[in-house]
Amino acid sequence: MAAPTVRRVRFWAGRSALRRRSSAFEAVRRPVSSNCRSLASRPCFAPACTHCEPGAARMTARIINGKAIADAIRAGVAAQAAALACQPGLAVVLVGDDPASAVYVRAKDRAANATGIAAQTLHLPADTSQDDLLAEIARLNADPAVDGILVQLPLPQQIDPVAVQEAMDPAKDVDGFHPLNVGRLVAGRECLAPCTPLGVMRLLRGGGTVLDGARVLVLGRSVLVGRPLVAMLLAADATVTVAHSHTRDLPEACRHAEVLIVAAGRPELVRGNWVRPGATVIDVGVNRLPSGKLVGDVAFDECAVVAGAITPVPGGVGPMTIACLLSNTLTAAVRRRE
Ligand code: GUN
Repeated sequence: MAAPTVRRVRFWAGRSALRRRSSAFEAVRRPVSSNCRSLASRPCFAPACTHCEPGAARMTARIINGKAIADAIRAGVAAQAAALACQPGLAVVLVGDDPASAVYVRAKDRAANATGIAAQTLHLPADTSQDDLLAEIARLNADPAVDGILVQLPLPQQIDPVAVQEAMDPAKDVDGFHPLNVGRLVAGRECLAPCTPLGVMRLLRGGGTVLDGARVLVLGRSVLVGRPLVAMLLAADATVTVAHSHTRDLPEACRHAEVLIVAAGRPELVRGNWVRPGATVIDVGVNRLPSGKLVGDVAFDECAVVAGAITPVPGGVGPMTIACLLSNTLTAAVRRRE
C-alpha cells in the first residue's frame, strides 16, 4: 500500500488559504510571506513582508529609467555630432527577412538619423552568399563616408558570423565584435565595446550604483553580453562572479550579489527570493510570452519588493543598446578624424 501523503501547509499557498489559516500564520514569524507567489523554499528576505496580507506587498525598489538615461546619451551624441566638421555615417546591414531583426534595424536607422548620424540600411536577400556579404563589408570598409558598420545578427545559416566580424575594419566595428576590439576590452584598453553591455554599465553609473569593490553576479555567459560585461565590471573594480546554466544552486549564488545582472534568455527566471534585499537588479532579457506580454529574465513584481533598484522591461536596458550604438558611431567618427 502506498504511504499516505502528508499535505504540508505552505505559507505561499495563496491569499485565501493564508487568510483561512491566519491564526497559524500569525503564530509563526513572518519571513516568507512577501514573496508567496515565488517558488520559495526558504525565506524570501523581503524587508517588509506583507504580500499575503490584505494590502499586499509594497514595491520598495527604485526604478532605473533606461529611457531617460538613453535620451540623455542621445542628446549628448546629437550635440557632439552637430559640432563635427563632417557628419558621422553608419551602415546597417540586414541579411534576410527575420521580422524581429527588421524591427531592430529600422529602430537603429531611425535613431541614428534623428541624432544627426547619416544612417543607411543595406537590405540583402536571405540567400546572399558569404562571399557576397564579405565583398559588401570590404566596400563599406573602404567608404570614407562610413564611420560605423553593423551587421545585424542572426545571419542566415550559410554565413559564418565570425568570418563577417573578422572582415570588418576594427575602427568601424561599432558592435565591438571584432577580435581586436574583444581583446582590447579584455585587456582593459581603449576599444569599441559591445553596445548592450556598455548600456548596462551606463545604466549602473546613471542609476548611482557603486561598483568599486561590489559583489556583482552576471547570470549568463554569452559572447554578446555576459563575457564583455565581466571585462567591463572588472575594469570598474567590481568583484565579479559569472553564473550560468551549469551553476549549482543558482538562487543561492544570486542571493550573494549586491548587483545582479541577468542575461540568461529565460523568461522570469529570477524570482523574488533569489534577490538579496537592497540589491541592484539589471534585467537584460526581452522575452515575448505566448500571451503577447513582453517580460524580462527577472520576475519584476516579485523582485521589486526586495531589490533596492531594478530595471523594468521594457524601458530598462533596451533603449540603452541603441543609445550606445549611436555613441560608438560618434566615437568611431571622432577617432577616424583624429
Ligand atoms: N542581434 C541582437 N543583438 C544584436 C547586437 O547587439 N548587434 C547585432 N549586430 N545584432 C544583434
